[in-house]
Amino acid sequence: MYFFIIFICLLKHCDAQHNWELLDESKLIRFLLTKYEPEAVQVYNKLVNSEWEHAIDLNNTVKANANVKANLEMVNFEKYYWTRYFRHLDSTNYKSEFVRRQVKLLKELGMSALNDQKYEEFSNLRSTMMNIYSTAKICPYQKKTCNLQIEGLSLNPDIENIMATSTNYDELLFTWKAWRDATGPKIKELYKTYVALSNEGARANNFRDRGAMWRNKFESPTFENDLERLWMEVKPLYDELHLYVLNKLKLKYGNQFDAVDGLIPAHLLGNMWAQNWMHISDLVLPFLNETTIDVTSALKKQGYTPWQMFQTADKFYQSIGLDPCNMSYNVTAGAMIEKPKNRHVICHASAWDFHNGRDFRIKMCTRVTFEDFITIHHEMGHIQYYMLYKNQPIAFRDGANPGFHEAVGDTIALSVSSITHLRKIGLISNNQLSSSSSLNSLMIMALERIAFLPFGLILDKWRWDVFSGKVSPDKWNTHWWQYRKSIQKIKPPVFRSDVLDFDPGSKFHVPADAQYISYFVAHILEFQLHKALCIAAGQYDPFSDRLPLHKCDIYGSKAAGKRLKSGLSLGSSRHWRVALKAISGETGLSGSAILEYFQPLYKYLKLENKKSKISF
Ligand SMILES: *[C@@H]1O[C@H](CO)[C@@H](O)[C@H](O)[C@H]1NC(C)=O
Ligand SMILES: *[C@@H]1O[C@H](CO)[C@@H](O)[C@H](O)[C@H]1NC(C)=O
Ligand SMILES: *[C@@H]1O[C@H](CO)[C@@H](O)[C@H](O)[C@H]1NC(C)=O
Ligand SMILES: *[C@@H]1O[C@H](CO)[C@@H](O)[C@H](O)[C@H]1NC(C)=O
Ligand SMILES: *[C@@H]1O[C@H](CO)[C@@H](O)[C@H](O)[C@H]1NC(C)=O
Repeated sequence: MYFFIIFICLLKHCDAQHNWELLDESKLIRFLLTKYEPEAVQVYNKLVNSEWEHAIDLNNTVKANANVKANLEMVNFEKYYWTRYFRHLDSTNYKSEFVRRQVKLLKELGMSALNDQKYEEFSNLRSTMMNIYSTAKICPYQKKTCNLQIEGLSLNPDIENIMATSTNYDELLFTWKAWRDATGPKIKELYKTYVALSNEGARANNFRDRGAMWRNKFESPTFENDLERLWMEVKPLYDELHLYVLNKLKLKYGNQFDAVDGLIPAHLLGNMWAQNWMHISDLVLPFLNETTIDVTSALKKQGYTPWQMFQTADKFYQSIGLDPCNMSYNVTAGAMIEKPKNRHVICHASAWDFHNGRDFRIKMCTRVTFEDFITIHHEMGHIQYYMLYKNQPIAFRDGANPGFHEAVGDTIALSVSSITHLRKIGLISNNQLSSSSSLNSLMIMALERIAFLPFGLILDKWRWDVFSGKVSPDKWNTHWWQYRKSIQKIKPPVFRSDVLDFDPGSKFHVPADAQYISYFVAHILEFQLHKALCIAAGQYDPFSDRLPLHKCDIYGSKAAGKRLKSGLSLGSSRHWRVALKAISGETGLSGSAILEYFQPLYKYLKLENKKSKISF
């Protein structure tokens, strides 16, 4: 009797190891549907629940521990299936693309492919680096030596506010340098081990290095060249914006910096990483005499509550034919849309898929501002995407590529922030619709979205070179600044050293082990999608000045919504080119929509830059 049972077990075990049974397509499908999927749904739902509970009650140690436990269970679960089944499968064995693609995705486990001891080392390393980053403090400019515990400033909101609002050259310089001193050097040594373990993990997934593993998500053998081509398309616009801003900064700061090299000192652009220049709009708006469009005041004056802001966004998505997503901001159903007074929470806005096809929630400490109004539309874009692909197998419940998920809400936000739409919903009045205020709005948009592009490109260009070993640790910082100078045309305001400094480490996504190129792709994609949806909605005519792209609003267009749906509901079940084609008719990324959107501003910048006779 006992022998019999053991024998059966052994046989089963052997089957699992070689899993020759699963070479049969229909058996694999049945295995995934009846065994893997239900278990995966349970494991992920439990994990997301515990993560949510922890995020909305940070000081609760019971919840924190439950989250750690759920994480371990998830890693064990994934590794169990990978080790026993998925890693042995060969996608070329299957006829249907549906199965081949699932196998391809399931075969990639990620960093937990490392052995247990190394995976633990990797996880610890990551949390140590994140801890250094998130607890870093600096002394205020007014008191350069201080007791950090008591008087120290944190990045958010203190330090970011200084970078955004100060126009004191020396204070900005001090703050810029102090933040880098407080983070990079403490992370650099750890980063060396991190790179080695990252690459080892990537190799366990059959990739050359971690950079190759990250790029693989974009499923294009020419990805790096594609990015280069996209950058070349939009570079002329960036260059004009950059020169225009350089001239204005030179007017403002005079001889405090030298600009013969045509580079902007990195600390003067209103942001710690010079990645978003919106906060220096006071210095650079084309028409400073024009009353600025102030949607925040309008929202406040009209008594909007956070909930009403969410409802307004929900109505936008419904107007183009998408399903209501009221569960995502219903507080009774679990959502969090305001900062609780009685406990610590992670305020960073986020959208959550609980993996059970019903529960989708937004977590946000909403303030009644235009910025948050736009953020709501962004987060709701994630929710709509989750809802549209909820019936796909779990391996396909993901963006068509990592850029798509970020791009959905941003695409909608381009319509929402158009003066056409803001007027439609009564947030700006008719007398704010002059062509000069419209150019001002375009400038603000460019300071945010165009200024970002080269930064979005270089962070991972640099990391790919680090992972591949193309650049050695003793040249990491120099290499970073080579990209900053040649692509972003930004220079460090003080001497940087390869021995002492590690400036990439002062940006969240580096210690956080989070890839970044998806933001570059998303910024390109959202204009491309916007253009396609606007044409579908009959709100943009490339061959006439009557309906310019920056004034297009797709509100109410079922035709636009239908296209969006057909692409997004695929999840990652097809190559992203298929999803892109369904929405836009195009099969490749293109920068042309950006140029069309910013056309009036581009003309203005070129003219102003020609006129400007400042000599450095
Ligand atoms: C909660 O945790 C934060 C840091 O995470 C800490 O600063 C704070 O003192 C804690 N509050 C309570 C009531 O324990
Ligand atoms: C690991 O996961 C597998 C599959 O879900 C499960 O059977 C096993 O009990 C888990 N082991 C631990 C230690 O949780
Ligand atoms: C702002 O100045 C421009 C030209 O410099 C002028 O055309 C425009 O009417 C002015 N706007 C206001 C509101 O004064
Ligand atoms: C969503 O709205 C519908 C209709 O207004 C309502 O019946 C339903 O209870 C709401 N669901 C949630 C979770 O808020
Ligand atoms: C919120 O959700 C609860 C239960 O999930 C439901 O009873 C209620 O009607 C919803 N509220 C709104 C305003 O939809």
